[in-house]
Amino acid sequence: MRNGKIFLASLALASGLAASAATNNLVVKTNKIGAPISPTMYGIFFEDINYAADGGLYAELIKNRSFEFPQTFMGWNIFGNVKVLDDGPFDKNPHYVRLGNPGHAHKHTGLENEGFFGIGVEKDKEYRFSVWARTPDGGKAKIRVELTDPDTMGDKQAFTKQDLEIEGKEWKKYTLTLKAGKTEPKAHLRIFLVKPEGTVDLEHVSLFPVDTWNGHENGMRKDLAQKLADLKPGVFRFPGGCIVEGTDLATRYQWKNTVGPVENRPLNENRWHYTFPNRFYPDYFQSYGLGFYEYFLLSEEIGSEPLPILNVGLSCQYQNNKHDAHAWGEELQQYIDDALDLVEFANGPVDSEWGKVRAEMGHPEPFNLKYMGIGNEQWGEEYVEHLKPFIEAMRKAHPEIKIVGSSGPDSEGDKFDYLWPKMRELKADLVDEHFYRPESWFLAQGRRYDNYDRKGPKVFAGEYACHGKGKKWNHFNAALLESAFMTGLERNADIVEMATYAPLFAHVEGWQWRPDMIWYDNLESFPTSSYYVQQLYCNNAGTNVLPLTMDGKTIAGDEDQNGLFASAVIDKNNNTYIVKVANVGDQPQDLNITFDGMKKKASILGGKVVTLHSDVETAENSLENPSLIAPKESAIEVSGKEYSTTIGPKTFAVYTFNF
Ligand code: AHR
Repeated sequence: MRNGKIFLASLALASGLAASAATNNLVVKTNKIGAPISPTMYGIFFEDINYAADGGLYAELIKNRSFEFPQTFMGWNIFGNVKVLDDGPFDKNPHYVRLGNPGHAHKHTGLENEGFFGIGVEKDKEYRFSVWARTPDGGKAKIRVELTDPDTMGDKQAFTKQDLEIEGKEWKKYTLTLKAGKTEPKAHLRIFLVKPEGTVDLEHVSLFPVDTWNGHENGMRKDLAQKLADLKPGVFRFPGGCIVEGTDLATRYQWKNTVGPVENRPLNENRWHYTFPNRFYPDYFQSYGLGFYEYFLLSEEIGSEPLPILNVGLSCQYQNNKHDAHAWGEELQQYIDDALDLVEFANGPVDSEWGKVRAEMGHPEPFNLKYMGIGNEQWGEEYVEHLKPFIEAMRKAHPEIKIVGSSGPDSEGDKFDYLWPKMRELKADLVDEHFYRPESWFLAQGRRYDNYDRKGPKVFAGEYACHGKGKKWNHFNAALLESAFMTGLERNADIVEMATYAPLFAHVEGWQWRPDMIWYDNLESFPTSSYYVQQLYCNNAGTNVLPLTMDGKTIAGDEDQNGLFASAVIDKNNNTYIVKVANVGDQPQDLNITFDGMKKKASILGGKVVTLHSDVETAENSLENPSLIAPKESAIEVSGKEYSTTIGPKTFAVYTFNF
């Protein structure tokens, strides 16, 4: 055995921290291989909140690109002679603009888009501008397309420009590539008639970085999608959240409106428009440019199982829980059909109605959908009544699909206690639990799943986050407590099949909810401590649980356990044992980890430790300091069947042992 403890203990002493007197003796039973850990165990939940889709992951830089917002020019400034017409080429987005002669030699006609909190562009990077256009008189006309800095004190606002000639009465898609002349986080896009005597019609004005995630034209912002890929999430739940329900049923998320040509996906109001009066975002809509095809594709590309959540015929029960706000009786059939048709869209043959749509979009192969959530965070008898016919229809048509039901918005209490037995009766495959809870709750929940009934549905911890003291920012301590709590998920992998932190994304200027896992502005993004906790779990999930005890008991933060939470797994694919330990206390703790049950001649062959720590409980990463808190990795030397070390205070550590 080689001792890492001496070094760490002297470090602790040097920094004035004395390790606890008693060593914590952890024993891993290597020959008692326990429950398999589902490959879906640690995943992500994408919901369109906090400008996560338009203005976030979806790389489109133009807001209200089809002039369909209820206030036609929201996001646009117009000048000169600009008219709106509504007999455009796309029936679900009929509006377009006509730029005509301004009537004076020194005037101009055009319009300027403000983007989402501005348009972020980087010097020398390329941006693909596209527009559907025509000249109503069939002649030629020229428009100029410019990137401008509206706030500059310089002589000229435009820093990049190009002309585009439009010709003919037929609507056509025109594209050009702009190379940004400077880095500007809050640029505008300006378009105007070069010769005032021409007339031009414009529709679906779009600007994307050329360099999107995997180069898709209708693609994702690269830095944000990369952060998802780096997590290696096992499951990808989308698209919400409350947006699935809608403020009312008319504004619920309807996946069928989100597939097919992007120009003809109708606009939807986002439920998070209304957080009034606290934070009001009257321009928060869903262009559906990031739709179900894109979600499935992203899921495939980051190696996750897709888990779409569909509306169950109920609108958001928080916002609208009157009887007539929901669909009843025969009205429900449409919702059930949407669920069945989604299986066809994802998995059906290319000659089926919805499989054909998928194939035409570029993916003839199935997406291999296996799970579907019916209803988001629903509750009450009305949920049970609504869910039942969905389950019956799905079992009949697609017994292969695993159905996820809800346990309501609370981690315990009446709604929760009512729904769990009902989900058992309805034979849901998984039950989605949501808990946004304070630090005290997370500290007390180390054993939450130890006594769950193993015979019924599995658990999907579908939305959770520790909401720390004060203003609920992404404080380090909240993340540490999440890491501690997650040892209990892992230890109970026989009943917990999936877990996804929430929410995932937030724009620093457009958030409605916090804490969140990844924050960004128009150019930069940064991971929070919670992101790193999720990443450490995702990347070290292992294949099976191993029993891990301290003084004969599992380690779940009990009073006599010195602030420690821990779990152990084996990764059969990589021949490693992985021990995760969260020390939530403010004292370092000596650990002695013994690998019991290894063959006589076998031995641990070294390994590594990755730690996440901050001296300051309220510390957090930020745009200015994105790496203040980040995992630190070092090799550990160990041989034999035992390893001694000291885990620092307020530290989450993942020890990997090769065998
Ligand atoms: O994640 C934020 C919201 O929390 C979700 O939209 C909803 O499902 C839950 O109430």
